[in-house]
Amino acid sequence: MYRGPAIQPLEVAPRVMPTGTMPVKGGLPPMSREEMTIKLKNPLQPTAPNLKHGKFLFMTDCAPCHGDNGRGTGPVAHLLRTKPADLVMGLSKALPDGYIYGTIRDGGIAMPSYDDIMSSHERWQVVLFVRHLQQQAAQKTASK
Ligand code: HEC
Repeated sequence: MYRGPAIQPLEVAPRVMPTGTMPVKGGLPPMSREEMTIKLKNPLQPTAPNLKHGKFLFMTDCAPCHGDNGRGTGPVAHLLRTKPADLVMGLSKALPDGYIYGTIRDGGIAMPSYDDIMSSHERWQVVLFVRHLQQQAAQKTASK
């Protein structure tokens, strides 16, 4: 009974991790501002599935600080010495997609980095959702 029918260790080759899903903590240096703002373009379109997953990630990972509406007044914002940015009406409205992407990836002073817990694909979905929040807010202001 020494050898059961179970698969032995390494009998099946280990699966190779898809690109962008390996933890990179300590590996990649932070992106340069130039790389973020000029070189990066969002490869995704604001389709319903992309926005839906972007919204899910935003509500889970960003809303505690930035608020459900992105205005920077989430439930834990008051605990932070550096206040979360208003992503909707503040300066961020004018930020390039790549800058938002880079901030999610690398974090900030009080903001955590999401380099190992979100895939590149997911970070772009969050960027799409942030743009969506901005459009919604602009429409509301215009219809007042
Ligand atoms: C722990 C609280 C916290 C969480 C969670 C958080 N942020 Fe932030 N964020 C901040 C703070 C505070 C700042 C201000 C700059 C800093 O910390 O360096 C900021 C800054 C930013 C900026 C830069 C805005 C500017 O005008 O320069 C962007 C973009 C941003 N956050 C997006 C996000 C997104 C998207 C998520 C979710 C993936 C997220 N943040 C999660 C606290 C947070």
